[in-house]
Amino acid sequence: MSKLDIQKLLSELTLEEKAGLCSGADFWHTKAVERLDLPNVMVSDGPHGLRKQANNGDHVGLLDSVKAVCFPAASALSCSYDRELAQTLGEALGEECQAEEIAAILGPGVNMKRSPLCGRNFEYFSEDPYLAGELGAHYVKGVQSKNVGTSLKHFAANNQETRRMSINAVVDERTLREIYLTAFEKVVKQAQPWTVMCSYNCINGVYSCENDWLLNKVLRKEWGFEGLVVTDWGAMNNRVAALKAGLDLEMPASGGITDQAIVEAVKAGQLTMEELDTAVTRILELIQKYLDNHTPSSYDMEAHHQLARKLARESAVLLKNEDQILPLSKETKVAFIGEFAVKPRYQGGGSSHINSFKVSNAVDAAADYSVTYAKGFDILNEELEEEYLAQAIKAAREAEVAVIFAGLPDHYESEGYDRTHLNLPPNQNQLIEEIVKVQPNTVVVLHNGSPVLLPWISKVKGILELYLGGQAVGEATVDLLYGLANPSGKLAETFPLRLQDNPSYLNFPGTNRDVEYREGIFIGYRYYDAKDMEVLFPFGYGLSYTTFAYSDLQLKVKDQDPSAKAEGPIKLKDTDILEVSVKVKNTGSCFGKEIVQLYVRDKEASVIRPLKELKGFEKVALEPQEEKTVTFTLDKRSFAFYDVEIGDWNAESGEYEILIGKSSRDILLAETILLQSSIKKPFLLDDRTTLGDVLGALEDPQAVIRQMMQAFLPGDSAPTIFSSEQLMMFEMIKSMPLHSMRSFAGLGFDTSAIDQLLAQIK
Ligand code: BGC
Repeated sequence: MSKLDIQKLLSELTLEEKAGLCSGADFWHTKAVERLDLPNVMVSDGPHGLRKQANNGDHVGLLDSVKAVCFPAASALSCSYDRELAQTLGEALGEECQAEEIAAILGPGVNMKRSPLCGRNFEYFSEDPYLAGELGAHYVKGVQSKNVGTSLKHFAANNQETRRMSINAVVDERTLREIYLTAFEKVVKQAQPWTVMCSYNCINGVYSCENDWLLNKVLRKEWGFEGLVVTDWGAMNNRVAALKAGLDLEMPASGGITDQAIVEAVKAGQLTMEELDTAVTRILELIQKYLDNHTPSSYDMEAHHQLARKLARESAVLLKNEDQILPLSKETKVAFIGEFAVKPRYQGGGSSHINSFKVSNAVDAAADYSVTYAKGFDILNEELEEEYLAQAIKAAREAEVAVIFAGLPDHYESEGYDRTHLNLPPNQNQLIEEIVKVQPNTVVVLHNGSPVLLPWISKVKGILELYLGGQAVGEATVDLLYGLANPSGKLAETFPLRLQDNPSYLNFPGTNRDVEYREGIFIGYRYYDAKDMEVLFPFGYGLSYTTFAYSDLQLKVKDQDPSAKAEGPIKLKDTDILEVSVKVKNTGSCFGKEIVQLYVRDKEASVIRPLKELKGFEKVALEPQEEKTVTFTLDKRSFAFYDVEIGDWNAESGEYEILIGKSSRDILLAETILLQSSIKKPFLLDDRTTLGDVLGALEDPQAVIRQMMQAFLPGDSAPTIFSSEQLMMFEMIKSMPLHSMRSFAGLGFDTSAIDQLLAQIK
């Protein structure tokens, strides 16, 4: 029996009370209606820890919040490529929310990393929607398994901080569907978050909060979202339009102004009571879920700190390891250099800022090792200070290995503004250049929320990327440096060689009021691969202290009789499920985990498509010499693009390649399949249809081509090789629209040939 009778409440609430429920009471609470014993509920940030503000409220992370555990940010966690781990994080957050009486945590953020400059990339997962969606869905499953809600954010196209509250993202529908909406779609369909938070920005001229297409049509009707849509804090524009568009709860607190607008709209007949009741019902359902599921509890902070340590270890990416400089041995004399070794940068600025109950640093964590420490640089100073440099050089000289802790200071990247360059502070780069002159065995540990340029890369032997690794990052770093843990993360985004190489470079952050997504679907590796460009580190890249061998790629159509297998590529229909398996063996001498990646390439398509797209990944744990079979399942969506002509996903007939690799640039095994589409698109016959289009739609164009060549430039009646003139002529004619061909009728061209061809199209 539920603690709340929603139908009864709907009949008892006055119009004013209903309108009032549609906006918050303060920064974090919904409104209560004491007359009817309806309590309020509290929501809190998110995403990688709980920022419960017991007294004051702010949405930019400046004021205090209760002590909690800061887990690695999504930029780090995504490199784990570990669904289970994302779910475990969610479970821990769910427990903290239960203990702190929170109805929903405001996360995860699954926006795409369109540009490495976006100040909030540290809070987002990836440049790839499949990866972001999978991890986001498991995060939500984890939190909600503890009967606490989530708020999937920021829906949608919030890919920059510059003018984030008013910028208009101009994005074509295919790009939206394939890149910017997919992660949201996955999370909604797989995990049904209790709430979705709309973004501040406009999409194609309409604010997200009042975007009927986005909220009612796509989110609710197409994807089946059943929960409540809340504004980002202050993202309300036109309250009545927003209600009609499917936006239920406005946050934080409008002080009654927008409530009044709702009341007036109902009285004026611009908004029906049913429309208002729909939103109120969803708000009451959230309160109901909280009341029915809240159990007074506490959580073990220390255990969650250890979980944060584990997450940081599993997420770190080993970018370089020349001469096997890592792992370090216990006896090696090591100099830790750089202020981050005692004050790690472990989280980002803004609404996700956590008041950590404790933070570990690498120097303390290495107390049992032979480690000296030199400050090297001041995090807040961009000038290299002679005194710190001299101490660092001395420490590096006296040690056998120097480990420099470098990274971005807090103010370099944050919610609220974007970066303008990808550089580390100059003093850090200078320090590294000076240290490598005296110590050839130099390793750099990085603390940053998104890619940085590494001008000294060829001069150091090791690079360990920790992103923003959460409050236990110090212990995790030492575990990794000394081999107590083997790095197993892989990059969830490309590190470009230069900022200018990034596909959004010319259109980020837009001009004045608009940002045009002119690169379309070609973000991240989709662009670098298509252009065959060198990058600093590719998407999916990461090293290990051990090595892995891949073999025996097997493909099978689910439920298909194996004896039906004919010669040539595997054939399947777009309604079939393809099962893929591959063997992976640990060929080194220590335990390790490998992230096996599956990409799909459409070999010939009627639209421009990326060279390959991630459609599967699995993380597998292997003892030395152990071998395991990793499996994937692919369905229609794995092969499809969003076809704007039919307004649906379309996996066209033709050949596709299944690519298995260690990274997007290290494909080890490949197999071709032949797919048969069930979609029969009508042949588009209009005044722009060309001869080439007609030929492309024929079942056997070769015979026709032969005849036509003969007709246009007669010669040998059965040539085995056409002349250059014939071939050139034919290529030119192929792009002629049919009506232009008819203009040559007076010169002897028989136009009935066109009609005969059209008649052959099935
Ligand atoms: C952020 C959201 C956050 C909210 C509440 C906004 O400024 O964009 O991500 O959940 O504030 O703090």
